[in-house]
Amino acid sequence: MSLAELIRERRSIRKCNSTPVEQELVVELLHKATRLQPTVEAGSWRVVYAGTPEARKRLVDCMLEQMSQSKLGKLIPGKLLDVFKKRFTDIPAHVIVMSTVGPDRLTNDRNYAAACGLMQSFQLLGWEQGLGMLWDTESMIQNEGFFKGIGLREDERFVGILHMGYYDKAPRSRKRTPAEQKWTVFQGQTT
Ligand SMILES: Cc1cc2nc3c(=O)[nH]c(=O)nc-3n(C[C@H](O)[C@H](O)[C@H](O)COP(=O)(O)O)c2cc1C
Repeated sequence: MSLAELIRERRSIRKCNSTPVEQELVVELLHKATRLQPTVEAGSWRVVYAGTPEARKRLVDCMLEQMSQSKLGKLIPGKLLDVFKKRFTDIPAHVIVMSTVGPDRLTNDRNYAAACGLMQSFQLLGWEQGLGMLWDTESMIQNEGFFKGIGLREDERFVGILHMGYYDKAPRSRKRTPAEQKWTVFQGQTT
């Protein structure tokens, strides 16, 4: 598969099967992804991996902590919450990515952007091996309780979680915004 095909054909996987994901593969993909990105400085990002059933359960508890304690969350029937929990706990592996907060906004943004680039390379390299992922940044998990649970440090920013697993069927592509709609030609003179 060419690189262009790989980029075009990768899909977000929201439903994976129970085939285990080996930690060695995750580490290898991470190594490969970092090698594609010479601008990522060592120390500007960090990854937390959850792969065992116990770790996955703990992570899902952290993800749902705020919601299950909120007024709205308390209205959700227990059974529905259990279904939701199981859906995430069954996902074979999760990679949580954090970037380093720098001394100024530019450094923060660069570190964050580099970590995003790393995540995209990682997703693509995984896809090449038949491994599907979902990049998760849902507002539901973006709270202090979750950040504390995953061990986010004072000088770190949460970038996202990649939930990963093998899939039986890739979903169809979503509609894309034509590039022309995002295109402005900068003129030599103001009109
Ligand atoms: C920065 C970023 C954050 C994302 N956050 C979420 C998310 O919180 N929940 C989700 O379901 N998908 C999330 N996604 C996945 C996108 O929704 C997904 O890329 C989109 O549905 C297009 O599907 P595709 O990846 O199959 O092309 C995120 C993607 C990116 C790049």
